[in-house]
Amino acid sequence: MATTSDNTSTAEKHPFSDRVLIRSIVSRPDGGAGLAGQRVRVGGWVKTGREQGKGSFAFLEVNDGSCPANLQVIVDAAVADLGQLVPTGTSVSVEGLLKNPPEGTKQKIELRVEKVIDVGTVDPAKYPIPKTKLTLEFLRDRIHFRPRTNTIAAVARIRNALAYATHTFFQEHGFLYIHTPIITTSDCEGAGEMFQVTTLISEAEKIEKELIKNPPPSEADVEAAKAVVKEKGEAVAKLKSDKANKEAITASVAELTKAKENLAKLEERSKLKPGIPQKDGKIDYAQDFFARQAFLTVSGQLQVETYACAVSNVYTFGPTFRAEHSHTSRHLAEFWMVEPEIAFADIKDDMNCAEAYVKFMCQWLLDKCFDDMEFMAKNYDKSCIDRLRMVSSTPFERITYTEAVEILEAAVKEGKKFENKVEWGIDLASEHERFLTEVKFQKPVIVYNYPKGIKAFYMRVNDDSRTVAAMDVLVPKVGELIGGSQREERYDIIKSRIEEMRLPLEPYEWYLDLRRFGTVKHSGFGLGFERMILFATGIDNIRDVIPFPRYPGRADL
Ligand code: 4AD
Ligand code: MG
Repeated sequence: MATTSDNTSTAEKHPFSDRVLIRSIVSRPDGGAGLAGQRVRVGGWVKTGREQGKGSFAFLEVNDGSCPANLQVIVDAAVADLGQLVPTGTSVSVEGLLKNPPEGTKQKIELRVEKVIDVGTVDPAKYPIPKTKLTLEFLRDRIHFRPRTNTIAAVARIRNALAYATHTFFQEHGFLYIHTPIITTSDCEGAGEMFQVTTLISEAEKIEKELIKNPPPSEADVEAAKAVVKEKGEAVAKLKSDKANKEAITASVAELTKAKENLAKLEERSKLKPGIPQKDGKIDYAQDFFARQAFLTVSGQLQVETYACAVSNVYTFGPTFRAEHSHTSRHLAEFWMVEPEIAFADIKDDMNCAEAYVKFMCQWLLDKCFDDMEFMAKNYDKSCIDRLRMVSSTPFERITYTEAVEILEAAVKEGKKFENKVEWGIDLASEHERFLTEVKFQKPVIVYNYPKGIKAFYMRVNDDSRTVAAMDVLVPKVGELIGGSQREERYDIIKSRIEEMRLPLEPYEWYLDLRRFGTVKHSGFGLGFERMILFATGIDNIRDVIPFPRYPGRADL
């Protein structure tokens, strides 16, 4: 959030709540000193509270999440029950006068409370987030309370700022924000790491429960019902041939109809089978919700390309899902990705865009989130602010994959040990990526022109036929931050690439249509949003930079 930039304004009430934001008091350049004498109401949660002067008054450090800093609040025993106010985690809404504290204190302003409006009490013996410093791991088990900690609140503000920066960057450059689907029927990366979306299992469970409660009719029941229909039919026929009166025939026909309905119901129920519907020995997806197999998206790229090939500059920013069993500090099963796609752009334009975007985000944090960055520097990573400064102002190194492998091979010759063998053709492992960006160049590195065998089908084949116009942006702390490419716009080549990779053609027919009709050179990339936050904050584990982390074995709330 932007820091209040001047010292002149009065502390203004928030338009949609009954209080002044603490940021508008303490984040002014004068620390709020110029507001002395003003009457304000604030609301927040007590970070620390202590009774003083033998219980005659209490100091409360109150935070409302609008900025990292707390407001010091002083309450006299005459005003409220101090014992209720001091426990960490208590919510308070208080009103009073802003005053300059005595000379020599850290704060530039404090609030002398005259009225306590509301209190949400906490039993300190039971509150799971005590005042002591807690590990991020401990907090992962208390996911609903962790935003109340300084760290997670700071991460939330940084994450918010980066999302705002993202939209600002792309909007300022004439990109349209396109909402691509969460549920898809094509596998963008062709890596088979998709979560399936199906109602077949819950439907099967419903039927199983229903059959237990209400067992299906036996064959004998159905035969008996058939016999009743036959008998009623014969009765109707007899009445008709006897030329019986109209009422008798009508009554008999009604009985026949009822018997037929009963039979139909029994036959319908006798078809109910427990388990997932099958056809020809395979699961029958024609009976699934979408009448076909569907998945959670791993990337919005393919769909956003349909818009790039129509309105030229687009981006999507949304959640993506990967059922990888990676228990690393860099992988989540649900993460957010920013994916621009640019028509009439080649791999070089793509790299330029990626570099400008990352730089823009770094500068944005320095401009708008400096207080939170200082918190990160103090508590997590001394070098995080310098890193943002360096990245926002230094050109990224650009090397081909072949050069990267040569550098790694040279390092191995000089005694560097990697767990994974280095040779042309390998997919660079995280240790290789981090060596390039952290040790060799000590700045972001863009590696481009990868072997085609290790990259996705949609990447444009280079003239050497061995490599594709792919690029990865590697950054210190994280390794791969961005993966992108120029897309293969030539129909014949992309079709044979799909076949080569043994992917089914049918789900990609619409994608091939983009090449059949009005094909255009185009490029794009995907930035892992959580990886960007890791890089910015210096926090070690990706599970701590997303509000609700999902990873193998864990999906709380
Ligand atoms: O390199 P990836 O797989 O690229 C794509 O999905 C392309 N379709 C993007 C495009 O060209 N539009 O993923 C892009 C980025 C990676 O560089 C990484 O930062 C992040 O997404 N990423 C993950 N982040 C967290 N957890 C995971 N499991 C991730 N997998 C990829
Ligand atoms: Mg990648």
